[in-house]
Amino acid sequence: MSNDHATGPSGFGFHSTAEDVTRGLNLDGQTWLVTGCNSGLGLETTRVLHARGAHVIGAARTVAKAATAFDGLGIARADATAVACELSDLDSVRAAVVAVSEQGRALDGIIANAGIMALPELRQRDGVELQFFTNHVGHFALVTGLIPRLTSAGRVVMLSSGAHRMAHADGIEFDNLSGERDYDAWRMYGNSKLANILFARSLARQFAQEGSQRTANAVHPGVIITNLARNMEDAEGMYERMRRSGRVTLKTVGEGAATQCWAATSPALAAVSGEYMQDCNVHPPTANALDDALADRLWTVTEALVAAG
Ligand SMILES: NC(=O)c1ccc[n+]([C@@H]2O[C@H](COP(=O)([O-])OP(=O)(O)OC[C@H]3O[C@@H](n4cnc5c(N)ncnc54)[C@H](OP(=O)(O)O)[C@@H]3O)[C@@H](O)[C@H]2O)c1
Repeated sequence: MSNDHATGPSGFGFHSTAEDVTRGLNLDGQTWLVTGCNSGLGLETTRVLHARGAHVIGAARTVAKAATAFDGLGIARADATAVACELSDLDSVRAAVVAVSEQGRALDGIIANAGIMALPELRQRDGVELQFFTNHVGHFALVTGLIPRLTSAGRVVMLSSGAHRMAHADGIEFDNLSGERDYDAWRMYGNSKLANILFARSLARQFAQEGSQRTANAVHPGVIITNLARNMEDAEGMYERMRRSGRVTLKTVGEGAATQCWAATSPALAAVSGEYMQDCNVHPPTANALDDALADRLWTVTEALVAAG
C-alpha cells in the first residue's frame, strides 16, 4: 500500500505529476509511441511529452481518434503522428507496426498504455479472453514488432496495475486463456496486468543478454478516475466506496501519468530495467511477477497466439 504523502528515493512520490517528473527535460528530437493516446493517462502523457519537446506517435483505435486528441491538446500536425492500432485485432496491430516503421523515426520509447478493465461479461478475440488479448497479446505483437525501431537505449514502458495482485494465485491461467472455465472480470483483468509485468521482465532480460542498453519496465499508475471503468455498471459507486473507506487515495490524471512518464524519460533510470514501479519509484510486485519461468512460458504461449492470429 502506498504512503500518499511520502516521496521515495527518486525524490518523487504519490503526488508527483507528469509535469513534475519531466520538469527541466528537453526532449527535442526524441520520439515516443504512446498507445491509448486519446484518453485518460495516455492523453496526459501525450500532452506532457509534447510539452517537453518530443514528437509523439499517438496510437488509438482509429487515426481520427488520435488526430482529434492532438487537436484537443493544440498539438500541431507536424509535431505528432496519428496511427491506428486496434489492439484486439492483430491485423490492425501489424498494420500499425508497418505504419510506424515506414514513418522512419527511431523510437526513444514505447509507452504501452492502452487498456480495458473489468468487462462484466466474457468476451473473446481469437478464442482468447478479451482483456488478456487487448492488454497483453495486442501489446506483445506491437512492441515485439517495433523493437527494431527502438534506439540503442530505447525504453519500453508497460502499463500494468496494482490489480496484478488479483491475478490467479498460480499466475497466468494457461489452461483457461479463453476465460470459459470460470470467468471473473477482475481476476481476468489481474491476469492481463500480471502478463504486462512478466512481458516487461522478459524483454528486460533479452535486452540485457544482447548487451543492449534498452530497458523495459512495468508501472502501476495509481487509481485514477478515467474512462477505464466505462464497462462497469457501478463505477461511480466503486469510486465512492473507495473514497469513503479511506483505504485508497485517488490520484489526479496528472499524478496518474507521472510514473509512466518518469519510467520513460528519467535520466536516472537509464540502467534500470525489469522493474515494477509505482508512485515514481521502484516497488516490489507479487512473487508471480518475479517468476522468470512463468515469464518464459508466457512469452512462448503469446508468440504462438500471435503467429496463429
Ligand atoms: N485509471 C486507473 O485507475 C488505472 C489503474 C491501474 C492501471 N491503469 C492502466 O492504465 C492504462 C490507461 O488507462 P486509463 O485509466 O487512461 O483508461 P482510459 O481513459 O479508458 O484509456 C484507455 C485507452 O486505451 C484505449 N483502448 C482500449 N481498448 C483498446 C483497443 N482494443 N485497441 C486500442 N486502444 C484501446 C482506449 O481507447 P478508446 O477511448 O477508443 O476506448 C483509451 O485510449 C490502462 O492500461 C490501465 O489498465 C489504470
